[in-house]
Amino acid sequence: MEKVLKIFSSKKLPGNIYQELSKKGFEINIWEKEKDISREELIEACKNVDILIYASYLNLDKEILDKLKTVKLICLYSVGFNHVDIAYANSIGKRITNTPEVLSKATADTAFLLMLATSRKAFYLANTIRTGDWGSFNPSANLGQELEGKTLGIIGLGKIGYFMAQRCRDAFGMRIVYHNRSINNKAEKDLDAQYLSLDELYAQSDVISIHTDLNPSTKHLINMDAFKKMKKNLILVNTARGEVIHQEDLVEALEQNLIWGAGLDVTTPEPLPSNHELLNFPQVCILPHIGSATKETREAMSKLIMQNILAYVENKDLITEVKI
Ligand code: DGY
Repeated sequence: MEKVLKIFSSKKLPGNIYQELSKKGFEINIWEKEKDISREELIEACKNVDILIYASYLNLDKEILDKLKTVKLICLYSVGFNHVDIAYANSIGKRITNTPEVLSKATADTAFLLMLATSRKAFYLANTIRTGDWGSFNPSANLGQELEGKTLGIIGLGKIGYFMAQRCRDAFGMRIVYHNRSINNKAEKDLDAQYLSLDELYAQSDVISIHTDLNPSTKHLINMDAFKKMKKNLILVNTARGEVIHQEDLVEALEQNLIWGAGLDVTTPEPLPSNHELLNFPQVCILPHIGSATKETREAMSKLIMQNILAYVENKDLITEVKI
């Protein structure tokens, strides 16, 4: 490197990314405070910084991007990039990378966990032990529903959706249907997946797992109109972004027994308030956005960021650049 490049990391990442980058001569500063960085603090911390490692969820909108004057590369510690105005960033010469693929299996595992937990009301029932409400055995109480041979509908069949479908097919022989921007030939060949319109998918699925990104066309896609078209035994799983579901409509759909339940790794807002009404339903299982949270995956995400940074300084193609 001719000039020492400065990196700011908005959270401390796992793995040995900082040691490796320091050895290569980068100057690195890390936001190590427990509290999330604010807009003002981010702008201040990025003065004279060349590369931002961004593991926060503050929106990087036009105003803030304009103020990150010297930052030329922003490496997101997520596959999702709905919190960044990518088109504007690119238009003012900033390049963006994300972390696809390396987190696909861990996130699919989280979707699978939520499907199964919801089918057996697991989180709610586990809590009855803590609250002293285990009670005596009642053959007709605490009944779940089985998944064997049921139909899984995937909305957004990319890598994560593929691995979720594969797990469901291997474990329960589930039939796979999907709705996507384009035909997924691999899923059709490997998993016998069948492309359906959204309405057909709503009508036929026993489980719907959401794996689409959040964009203007998917915001509140799952709303009351959609719930009315779904089966009464429907388990809705969301490991994508909370806003793909109209959350008030979900509460209403559950109250009216329009669907069976929901397994959510993402909500609106995050963190979800601890007294939120969704937490009262036995057939709702909620996790605090842990989709990719395994040691192996989080370290792989850190490594991918390091590889993107090294590609950038070596003037090579970025490995996972996001462009719109
Ligand atoms: C992702 O990578 O987008 C996960 O949802 C974490 O935000």
